[in-house]
Amino acid sequence: MNLFGTLYCRTAQFITNKIAMPMVYFPEPKKITGSGCLANIPALLKDGHYLCPFVMMGKHFEHSPDGLRFLEVLKEIYPEVVTFDEVPPNPTVDAVYAAYYVAKKSNCDAIVAIGGGSVLDAAKIVGALLTNPRRPLTKMKGVLKIRHRLPLFIAVPTTAGTGSEATVAAVITDSKTHDKFAISDPHLIPKIAVLDDTLLTSLPPSLIASTGMDALTHAVEAYLGHALTKKTASYALQSVRLIHDNLLAFYQDPKNETARKNMQEASYLAGVAFTRSYVGYVHAIAHSLGGAYNVPHGYANAIILPHVLRAYGKKAEKKLARLSDVAKLTAYDESREKKAQAFLSWIEEANKAMGIPTQFQGVIQEKDIPALARHAAKEANPFYPVPKELSAKQLKAIYQELDTYDSRNKAN
Ligand SMILES: [Fe+2]
Repeated sequence: MNLFGTLYCRTAQFITNKIAMPMVYFPEPKKITGSGCLANIPALLKDGHYLCPFVMMGKHFEHSPDGLRFLEVLKEIYPEVVTFDEVPPNPTVDAVYAAYYVAKKSNCDAIVAIGGGSVLDAAKIVGALLTNPRRPLTKMKGVLKIRHRLPLFIAVPTTAGTGSEATVAAVITDSKTHDKFAISDPHLIPKIAVLDDTLLTSLPPSLIASTGMDALTHAVEAYLGHALTKKTASYALQSVRLIHDNLLAFYQDPKNETARKNMQEASYLAGVAFTRSYVGYVHAIAHSLGGAYNVPHGYANAIILPHVLRAYGKKAEKKLARLSDVAKLTAYDESREKKAQAFLSWIEEANKAMGIPTQFQGVIQEKDIPALARHAAKEANPFYPVPKELSAKQLKAIYQELDTYDSRNKAN
């Protein structure tokens, strides 16, 4: 990006991160952890004198032994408990409203969201609609558009990676245009995050891989950015260390309790880190590919991450070297350059070990690249506090590198 563009981005980031954001309060969820801690929820609702919990969950969970047991215990206290399990993988405006009407009809005063990122995101917006009924969902698009606090919101993640149990954000898809948009507001940070690792024992390895790399991308992008705080730096570093030490073990054996717990913790920590310190171009590119070709989010991040880190070059070297130290990848007295390279190599090796390719292999159409690059540049610039600003033109080169479609042309 040229000097004028970089200056413009840095000024916008400075105003946001050094002046505006310190005035915004980012609460952290109360965290409940431990194998089987899902069982604490019914008593917690009863002790809080809630009258009508609304349980949003994935279909798979609802019919699982864990789900059946949970609903049975909950029904002992709330015989008329209201449930909803019709959330599609990329939650649409229509699906959110369908859930909202069910919750509203029963005057629900607490939400329990049990599932992956889609269920958690959709449930957040149901909560926002319940307490902000005059604001249509499409008007919540963007940042700080939700005026009133949500009802009690309990998030129970059943994957380890999206971090939605700790974040300000929900991503919703426009039912007509299929465009994805984010709603970001500290009101959307769950009040309670229930991290029950036993819910992750039957995750398919491919999902462990993609969600785990999503968590790594959250931690790395938050750490590399200029909007780092003492707390988010510490959380991002802890998260990277946990992912380095546990992701492959969890991928190879979902019954490995320690690896499972550590990945769940890593996802949470990375969620807290990026909710205050943002993501970067990896996410901007992944979102564009998700919208255009429905590429799963974590899988896209996993492939894109090394390409974008290479494009940052020297600008990210010092921090990548620190990440390498945290993961104990090289000798401590090794050069920064070698440490940064070791971190990049580790990401590529982890991808390879989990069956994630280095490129998309025919997904990205060459004719779409200019529009995709503009989409990513528009999302990231000027506000993502990335280590090196990239223009749409520079991003185009990354898209070209990301797919094998023109490998013959590139060789010529
Ligand atoms: Fe993500």
